[in-house]
Amino acid sequence: MKKEERVTGYSDTKLVEKILHLKQQKNAVLLAHFYQVPEIQDIADYVGDSLGLAQKALISNADMIVFAGVHFMAETAKILNPDTKVVLPDLEAGCSLAASCPKDKFSEFKAKYPEHIVISYINCTADIKTLSDLICTSGNAVQLVESLPKDQKIIFAPDKNLGGYINRITGRDMVLWDGTCEVHDILSTEAVVKLKVENSDAKLIAHPECKAPVLELADYIGSTTAMLNFTSKDDSNKYIVATETGILHQMRKNSPEKEFLIVPTDENCLCNDCSYMKLNTLEKLYLCMENESPEIKLSNKVIKKAKIPIRKMLDISKKLNLIK
Ligand code: 13P
Ligand code: SF4
Repeated sequence: MKKEERVTGYSDTKLVEKILHLKQQKNAVLLAHFYQVPEIQDIADYVGDSLGLAQKALISNADMIVFAGVHFMAETAKILNPDTKVVLPDLEAGCSLAASCPKDKFSEFKAKYPEHIVISYINCTADIKTLSDLICTSGNAVQLVESLPKDQKIIFAPDKNLGGYINRITGRDMVLWDGTCEVHDILSTEAVVKLKVENSDAKLIAHPECKAPVLELADYIGSTTAMLNFTSKDDSNKYIVATETGILHQMRKNSPEKEFLIVPTDENCLCNDCSYMKLNTLEKLYLCMENESPEIKLSNKVIKKAKIPIRKMLDISKKLNLIK
């Protein structure tokens, strides 16, 4: 939404003031993903990756969780904290990965592999979670798969890039659902090679949703939180970043002296904004807090079933010391 199309007519400063006031007045917690616009990240109570956000949602005792992220993340918050109202600034904030795996098609796929368990990446709908034995995020996927017996047969959905990466790292042969993230899958390998040649002093860091040729060139692969921590602790001064642009905000905040170059989608275009994440604006955030809508609604049946594999993920992650 362009600023001049605003329905409230408030400036950014006024909106921030009003959001902070509503947060207090309504005892709300604002959880934001790293791919949100900087002005939302800057006023959030917590900014994190999918794993961190799920944990925060679980332990929240706020009266309202305001989720500045995409739909599957807000759904996860609702599943983990069903008695709390969860609102999302724009209900259209979906995810191409989640959309690539519809329930009916996935049920048919699953039926072909009766001996396999299902591990689903958290970037899937609540319906897919109800069909899953274990959920993972990019922050714990490799370790969760490694924690299972070597001969365990596994279907991995919905991201074939992340699934392929886990197969290569762990030597497993998981059956992969054919889904991708429309942002990461189109990051250009040619552009990565060119950037590496032109910046031989830079390290390439990549999200595991990138396709295999990009991952093969990477010096470090990890979730958004893991990439951020890597750039804070590592001693290089320059990084080529293969993920969505939103993460650069925290990287630059944490390491202002370092240089971060984003990987383009092709020679001419820095199109690696997630159009779903970027649907959330300060104005929509204010309106959803004021109106307590749009709200995430799920049936008790779905919540009960989908919660099992998510809780399992959190429990195993705790045992493996991946989370506190
Ligand atoms: P993270 O869990 O690493 O933040 O990734 C979420 C996501 O949607 C990546 O596209
Ligand atoms: Fe989904 Fe990709 Fe956007 Fe992440 S970046 S929310 S995986 S479409």
